Amino acid sequence: MNVETPRLRLRGWLERDRAPFAKLNADPNVMKFLGPALTRAQNDAVIDAQMALMCAGRPAFWAVESVSDNQFMGCIGVKKVNFEAAFTPAYEIGWRLGAEFWGQGYATEGAKAALAHAFETWGMDEIYSFTVLDNVSSQSVMQKIGMTHLPKGAFNHPKLALDDPLSPHVLYRIRREDLL
Ligand SMILES: CC(C)(COP(=O)(O)OP(=O)(O)OC[C@H]1O[C@@H](n2cnc3c(N)ncnc32)[C@H](O)[C@@H]1OP(=O)(O)O)[C@@H](O)C(=O)NCCC(=O)NCCS
Repeated sequence: MNVETPRLRLRGWLERDRAPFAKLNADPNVMKFLGPALTRAQNDAVIDAQMALMCAGRPAFWAVESVSDNQFMGCIGVKKVNFEAAFTPAYEIGWRLGAEFWGQGYATEGAKAALAHAFETWGMDEIYSFTVLDNVSSQSVMQKIGMTHLPKGAFNHPKLALDDPLSPHVLYRIRREDLL
């Protein structure tokens, strides 16, 4: 099911999204806090996984396109956390946009709509978000959509080595009653 905001369309993935998403996932600026740039095969596997989740009617990250010109911009969505930590099993909200679209409030606008959809349509009770300690812009989005920082929830990402600079993560949460 698509979700629309004044400027964004959050929709299912199309074959034509593969090339622009690969470009975004190969950009070191975009990947600064996410790890090594993705190969084309890894990029396509991410899209395939989101397509499969959506096909099964399960929460996933939508492709995001501009309402005004249908240009692909990146992804925003809610999906099940795919690792074990103190706060899992849980759902997470996340976002990744091409660098040319940053700083215009797009992530905040799309994430607010994704949250509303998750609470109202999918009936979730609470949603988490997490990011690398230094990823200030992502934490700013979390704050602007009404999420609460959980200082005691800080954790080292279990899929990364402890001495990896990307390992320390902050944790945020929003509950249904915070939004509705
Ligand atoms: C995180 C991301 C999605 C934000 O997208 P965006 O559309 O620029 O987000 P918004 O414009 O809605 O809000 C960004 C906020 O961060 C702020 N910000 C951006 N860079 C910043 C920085 N280096 N230091 C402090 N604040 C910063 C912006 O000023 C804005 O806050 P404001 O509206 O209060 O001014 C985008 O930067 C991105 O795709 N980054 C790469 C992928 C990534 O890291 N994803 C998150 C993984 S957890």
